[in-house]
Amino acid sequence: MMKEHSTKLTLLTCLSDGQFHSGEKLGELLGISRAAVSKHIKGIQCWGIDIFRVQGRGYQLADPLEMLSQSSLVAASDDASVDVIPIIDSTNQYLLDRTSELSSGSVCLAEYQAAGRGRRGREWVSPFGANLYLSMYWKLDAGMAAAMGLSLVVGVAVVEALEKIGVQGIKLKWPNDLYYNDKKLAGILVELSGQAGGAAHIVIGLGLNMSMKSEVEGIDQPWTSLTEVCNGEVPNRTELAQALICAWHTALTDYELNGMSGFVPRWNRLDNFLGRNVRLLIGPRELEGEVMGINEQGAVLLKTHNGLESHIGGEISLRKND
Ligand code: ATP
Ligand code: BTN
Repeated sequence: MMKEHSTKLTLLTCLSDGQFHSGEKLGELLGISRAAVSKHIKGIQCWGIDIFRVQGRGYQLADPLEMLSQSSLVAASDDASVDVIPIIDSTNQYLLDRTSELSSGSVCLAEYQAAGRGRRGREWVSPFGANLYLSMYWKLDAGMAAAMGLSLVVGVAVVEALEKIGVQGIKLKWPNDLYYNDKKLAGILVELSGQAGGAAHIVIGLGLNMSMKSEVEGIDQPWTSLTEVCNGEVPNRTELAQALICAWHTALTDYELNGMSGFVPRWNRLDNFLGRNVRLLIGPRELEGEVMGINEQGAVLLKTHNGLESHIGGEISLRKND
């Protein structure tokens, strides 16, 4: 399995110069037949990469591809690790499987996820090289109760880090999404493997669309990529990942020391639905009201016909209602 991936990754590295490469030359380079090259190219296309084949010239990538550079990425603290695993099932799962060996701040990044996931077992569409798939492990001494606030804290940190590098106009949707022009740009998934009572072992994952093609299948809601936000001038993925790793480290340390209070105004400034009418889907129940921001527990505040209500919990979805 791994061997098969490494052949495909070597092929991709050759093609990433953007030039044509003949099947024959590629085969020679890898010590495999032209038919085997063709088979591997088909496999690469299944990861979501477009490759042309022109008779007499060979294969060429349809779009430029710049892979993540593990050597340029450094952990935000000394004893944490950075693992770039190009082909993975899920970066969150990778860290969840290793919590006993990890230090807070350890991260995993991938180019492609075969089983990327969102909340409640939904699929996260994860084509190769087009987006950022980043997860971080954090040991939360405050335990599970403090975990709910994490997706909010991390969301604020991501938007502020993007603003710092000149990417403006990104908003937050409670509790775990980044939005741009009312479309989903990114999602954050917080998962935990904690014993009740003790410290919680938390994995925080971000899927951020950077230059995903509009033809992609499997997303059943309006979505967008940084290409739209930045008018085509998308930041370098490795540099952005590094900025996010640092920003998360700072935000998580701050949250552990000081709790949510400092994040409440920072969240409210960025809330996509502040002052807007929404529906909250709470299991089978549905509630309507105007978003008034969040409170210090990380609950969403809603002005309803019954007055001001706060709602929190993993089973709640917010939908626009205008
Ligand atoms: P909520 O959690 O409030 O119900 P949601 O509908 O966004 O919101 P999530 O579980 O947070 O649900 O996210 C998973 C959903 O995100 C998928 O069902 C799909 O509609 C969408 N999705 C999957 N991959 C992507 C992607 N790469 N970019 C944008 N949206 C995606
Ligand atoms: C959501 O909107 O429901 C959250 C989506 C989170 C996707 C990221 S991609 C990196 C990490 N690995 C996963 O399998 N999921 C998260």
